[in-house]
Order: sequence, then C-alpha cells, then structure tokens
Amino acid sequence: MTIPKYECTDCMKNFLKELPKCEHHVHLEGTLEPNLLFKLAERNNIILPSTFPTTVEECNIRYNNFGDLQDFLDHYYIGMSVLITEQDFYDLAMAYFQKACEDGCLHSEVFFDPQGHLERNIDLETVVAGFDKACKDANKKFGTTNKLIMCLLRHLPNSDGLKVLRDSKKYYQNGTIHGLGLDSSEKPFPPQLFEDCYNLIRTEFPNVGLTAHAGEEGDYTYVENSLNLLNVTRIDHGINSKQSSELMEKLYQNKTMLTICPLSNVKLQCVKDVAELPIPLFFDKGIPFSINSDDPAYFGGYILDNYIVVHERFGFSVEQWKTISLNGINGSWCDESRKQELRDKVDEVCNKYLELV
Ligand code: ADE
Ligand code: ZN
Repeated sequence: MTIPKYECTDCMKNFLKELPKCEHHVHLEGTLEPNLLFKLAERNNIILPSTFPTTVEECNIRYNNFGDLQDFLDHYYIGMSVLITEQDFYDLAMAYFQKACEDGCLHSEVFFDPQGHLERNIDLETVVAGFDKACKDANKKFGTTNKLIMCLLRHLPNSDGLKVLRDSKKYYQNGTIHGLGLDSSEKPFPPQLFEDCYNLIRTEFPNVGLTAHAGEEGDYTYVENSLNLLNVTRIDHGINSKQSSELMEKLYQNKTMLTICPLSNVKLQCVKDVAELPIPLFFDKGIPFSINSDDPAYFGGYILDNYIVVHERFGFSVEQWKTISLNGINGSWCDESRKQELRDKVDEVCNKYLELV
C-alpha cells in the first residue's frame, strides 16, 4: 500500500463530503453488504456453496484478495443469488441510496444486471419494480435524484441480450429504465459482439443513455470500438484510454465522460495503487471523468471514500475539485434544471471552502 502523498485534513474531508457529487458507476448488486447478504440468505432459505465465505469476517478476507475481474465476478454472481423478492431488491437499493446521500451524493445513475436474476428464474418485473420503487422513495426521503441503467452481461450470448432488451421495451418506453450498459468479463467479449443490442435500443429510443464498460482490463481498442460501434456517449472505467493519444484527443473533443472507479481498480489488480491511475493526465487533457465506487460492498469504500483516496494521492485544489464535480454534473443524464440546481450547490460549497482549506 502506497503511503498517501497528500494529507486529507478534516476540513478537506468535510469539503469533499459537502461537495455535490454524482455517481455514474455503481452496480446495485455490488452494494450488497455481507450483513444483508447473510440476512437475505436466511430469509430466503438460500444455501450458499461450501466454498463461499460463511461470516462477515471471511467475506472481508476474500474481498481483499481478488486476483482479477473474473475472480471477483465469480464471487459476485453467487452473492446476488440471495436476491429473490421485490422487497429484497428494494432493501438493497434503499441501503445504497441512504449511504450515497450520507456521502453527499445528490444524483446517482445506477446499474443493475437483469440477466443475473433471470437465469435464476426471477421475473424481470420483480427486479425492476423493487429497484424503481427504491429510486422513487429515495427521492422522497433524501431528495436525491436517481436513474436506472440496465446492463447486459457480456459473457452471455448477444441473442440473450436481445431477448432481455425486447422484454424491457416497456420500461424504456415509460422512462423507468433510463440507460443501457455492458458489463462482466471484458477481455474475451469485445464490444463488437453487442452491436445489434445497442442498435435495437438506439433506433427505438434515441433519448436513452448509452454507456459500456471498456478499458478496465481490456486495452484502448475496447474503448474505441465501444465509441465507434456501440455509439456510446460515456465509457465506464476507460483507464486504458491513456494508451492512445489519438483516442484521448477524441474523448476530449467529444466531451466523453469516463466513469473512473479508483478503489475498484486497486482491488481488481488493474493498478497497484490509486497513484498509478491516469487521473491527472485526463484532468490536464480536459477529458471529463467522474469518480465512482463500482461495487462498494466488495471494494472497501463508497463514493466519498473514493474521493478521499484520490485527494490523498493527487492533492487537488478546491478549484480542481470544482471542475471535477461540474464535469460529473454535465455528464449526467438528468434534465437541465436539475443540473443547474446541482451547479448552484457546487458554487455555494466551493465559495464556502475556498478560504478554509
Ligand atoms: N460487474 C460488476 N462490477 C464490474 C466491473 N468492475 N467490471 C465489469 N463488470 C462488473
Ligand atoms: Zn462496473
């Protein structure tokens, strides 16, 4: 573990907490804390495999020793098998929205993996209804705004993705689901396998936000192909974009936001330490990025923890944090009036702390 280069003072921590944040890269199934996981396993009479941790402590040991993305995913798909009823999905999402609100995250665009539930014979309606109710209740209870992004699992055939998308049309039509993403094992399943899926949604619902995980373990060509073939306007992770200056120029020109997940990248061994991430490079090149938690129950921190570790490694000023926060707002998929509300709050908080930190 690298020693932090910059101190994150209590005042700086308060600033980072109060700074209005938007989260664009968090998998609801990745917010399943061990406590809730074991509680739901009991509630639903689920017997977990004998190789799965049996206590919170065993989970924490396992979570500190993922070898790579696949090693994590193998555990993650077993973990989500405790989610059965609409109430389970609701409880899971509400726990995340509460935590995000406590961290000063005012707008969240959250992923979910329907295929991980459909293959266990859970109805799409059960999953979507639970998550949608939580989005609405979190808005009422915490004042946060929240949107659902459905992800396709890239290790499953494209025909399976097409089927889920056809079954999901009503949710895209009525605005319950706002975006389409692509996740799971990256390297063996490049973006070009999913052109049909993205075309289906883009042609029928031109206002739906398109994003894809790319350049997490895969090289920069996964980012290029996601942009060129899937027509995404956002890239999840995207850290390997640094391998191509031509691609970086394109990201800058098109203002394509990268949703970076610092603690995740360390826990999945993409980098040894957050200090290795190309965050200052992207900042200096004017490539917009947001800072996110990915699977916070597994990677040791929610959004604020990720902001703090970035500060400890790169020591950004209040002005630089203001730019990062505004870029996150501008890259969000909420409407202009909500964006303006968030920008005004950013001004207020930055003015308050400009002289203090
Ligand atoms: N699903 C959940 N977390 C993921 C990640 N970091 N990369 C790809 N798929 C995921
Ligand atoms: Zn992710």
